[in-house]
Amino acid sequence: MNYKIPKDFKIGANMPAWQVEGGSNKLEGHLHFPDLMYRAYPERWFNGYGPTKACEHYERYEEDIKLLKETGCKQIRFNPDWSRFIKDFETGEVNEEEATHYHNVIQCYLDNGIEPIICLEHWELPAYYYEHYDGYASRKVVDMYVKYAKEVFTRYGHMVKQFYTFNEPIVIPQLCFMDGFWWPYGNDTKHAMNWIHGKIVASAKAIACYRELNLDGKIGMIINPAFIYARSDANPQDKKAKEIADSLYWGAFMDTAIKGEYPKLLLDILKKENCMFDYEEADFEIIRQNTIDILGLNYYQPLRVKEAEYVWNSENFHLKKYYSEWDMPGKRMNPYRGWEIYPKALYDAALRIRDEYGNIEWVVAESGMGVENEEIYRDEAGMIVDDYRINYIKEHLAWLLKAVEEGCNCKGYWLFAGMDNCSPLNAFKNRYGLIEIDLENNRQRKLKKSAYFYKDMIQSGEFEFEDINKSLIDK
Ligand code: BG6
Repeated sequence: MNYKIPKDFKIGANMPAWQVEGGSNKLEGHLHFPDLMYRAYPERWFNGYGPTKACEHYERYEEDIKLLKETGCKQIRFNPDWSRFIKDFETGEVNEEEATHYHNVIQCYLDNGIEPIICLEHWELPAYYYEHYDGYASRKVVDMYVKYAKEVFTRYGHMVKQFYTFNEPIVIPQLCFMDGFWWPYGNDTKHAMNWIHGKIVASAKAIACYRELNLDGKIGMIINPAFIYARSDANPQDKKAKEIADSLYWGAFMDTAIKGEYPKLLLDILKKENCMFDYEEADFEIIRQNTIDILGLNYYQPLRVKEAEYVWNSENFHLKKYYSEWDMPGKRMNPYRGWEIYPKALYDAALRIRDEYGNIEWVVAESGMGVENEEIYRDEAGMIVDDYRINYIKEHLAWLLKAVEEGCNCKGYWLFAGMDNCSPLNAFKNRYGLIEIDLENNRQRKLKKSAYFYKDMIQSGEFEFEDINKSLIDK
C-alpha cells in the first residue's frame, strides 16, 4: 500500500547534546548529571565508553550537519548543554564563547536547509546544582533553570521557532531516585516526586518567560508518557492497576503540561502514602496558567500491567504496590534493547490525545530502534544495510498516518537518532543512527541504508508498506 505524508507533516531526527557532543574542551567544574553517572562507575558503561567524547559532535558539527542534510531531514531537535552554556552557576552568567558556539550550530542548520528545534534540557543538569542543591528539588535550581531558559530564548528566539522545556523529565527522577536503577540508586518516591514537581514548575515558569518575551514561535515539552495496556480490561483489578500506573507514568507530565493540573488519583495516592511532594501554594496556579502549545511525545515500548503480584512490605513506598508489570506471552521484541515493539500504541496514543487532551498539536519527538553489532549488516561497499530500521520507521509512520487521517493533530516524526550515539550505560552498544559512527576508525561517519531511504521518503512524500488496516482485522 502507498502511504502519503501530508505536506505539513515534518520528518526529522534527534541530536541530544550529552549523547553526541563530548566534552573534551569543557571547563573545569562544568560536568552534567550523565557525566556524574559515568564517573561514579565507568566500568558499568558498555565497553567503557561514556559521554566524555561521545561522537565528538561538538568539534565536528559542521561535518555532521552536512551529513544530516544528506538524510533529507527537515527538522533536527538538538539542545545546548546547559552545563557548558553557563559560566557561573550561582549568578547564571553565560559563557559567551559557548553561546557563540550554539549560535553557529543553529546558523549551520539554517544554512543547510534544516529547521533547528531546541529542547532546553536532555538531562544535562549541571553537576554543580546536583551536588550543592539536590537538583530540581531546590527552588534555587528551578530559578536558575528559568534564567538559563531566558538566555536561550532571548539569544536564539529569532532563529528557532520551536522550543521544548525538557526531554523525558521523568527519567532521571524515576530511574535514579525512585527505582534504584541508575546511579545514585535511590529508592525514595517522595524525593523523586520533589524532582518531578520541581521540573513541572520549572517548565511552567520557563513557558511564562517565553510568552513574556513575545517571540514568534511555539513552546512545548517532550514527554515519554507510558503507553499502558492492562492484561485484561475485563478484569477490574487489572484495570485499576492500569489506572494507578497511568496516573503517574502518563498523567503527571501529560496532565500538568496540557491540562494544567495533576491527576487527582495521583495526588490522593501520594498523600495516602506520605509521599506528597513539597510545594508552594502558588505552584498550582503557575502550572494552570502556563500549559504548552505543542507536545513532543517519545515512544519506544508499551507498558503492560496487571494487578499487583506481591504484597508491598518495604518501608519505602513505590507505586508498584498497586500494579505489577505483565510479561505478555508472544510479544514482539527488539532483543538487543529488550524492549517490545508495538507500533499500534502510537495510534492509540494519538486517539487519546485527540479525545482527552483537546487534540493539541504534537510530534513524535523520539522513536527508534537500537541494534547491537550492526557491522554484520555491512555490504560489500561498506554500507550498513539496516532494513530492520527502515521497516521500524515505516510501521510506526503507517500507524501514525492512519491516526492523522482520523483527525489527530500530529505534525511530525523525529527519529532517534540522527547518528549513533552514547546511551546511558549501554553507550555505543545499541546503534540508533541514520549515520554510523565507526569507533574503531576515528569515529568516522557514514550514511546507513536507512539514511538513503529517509531522504527518498521525505523528498517523494510517500512510502510503500503493508496495509496495516488488514493487520488490525487479523489481530
Ligand atoms: C530515550 C532518551 O529514553 O531513549 C534517549 O530520550 C535514549 O536519551 C533513548 O538514548 C533510547 O534509549 P537507550 O537507553 O537505548 O539509549
